[in-house]
Amino acid sequence: PRSIFFSRHGESQFNVEGKIGGDSALSPRGMKYARSLPDLIADNIGDAPLTVWTSTLQRTIQTAQHLTCTKLTWKSLDELDAGVCDGMTYEEIEKAYPEDFANRDEDKFNYRYRGGESYRDVVVRLEPVIMELERQENILIIGHQAILRCLYAYFHNLTQADLPYIKIPLHTLIKITPKAYGCDEERYALPI
Ligand code: F6P
Repeated sequence: PRSIFFSRHGESQFNVEGKIGGDSALSPRGMKYARSLPDLIADNIGDAPLTVWTSTLQRTIQTAQHLTCTKLTWKSLDELDAGVCDGMTYEEIEKAYPEDFANRDEDKFNYRYRGGESYRDVVVRLEPVIMELERQENILIIGHQAILRCLYAYFHNLTQADLPYIKIPLHTLIKITPKAYGCDEERYALPI
């Protein structure tokens, strides 16, 4: 059976600083995760063919850099656009836009950042990615927290209310194997 692998990019400089969005590079820990990915994948599928999809942001491309298989970048896999809040910490957002911060907490799936996107918007832009994903063999998607929540919710049939709270930790490979009904799942967390 074919497998779909999900991984967030390795820890980025913005992750270290608690800032959202942006296009920062990997931290030294993130680089270490990138170096260990090829072995982790090989342990799972041996030398079966694999295609890697990344976003256009450098933290996902750097995470894929040591993998030798076919790679494709998708603009549709870029992280949820936080608009005017891009590059801020949650504390800074709460100070600058207290009402927005409360509204997001109230309805995280539908809340749209000023000049940016909501989870609902992201679900819509991921439709072509999911269509293509359904036709492919073994795929590894190196993505972002919000993006992987949407893809994960699709395969596990989770509700819109639960979707924005799905736990997708850093430095963890999620393996999904579609079955006739539902999907099997395994997770491999690397102690990095
Ligand atoms: O902090 C990393 C990050 O990927 C941000 O770029 C993004 O805005 C956020 O996570 C999405 O998570 P949440 O919807 O919980 O804020």
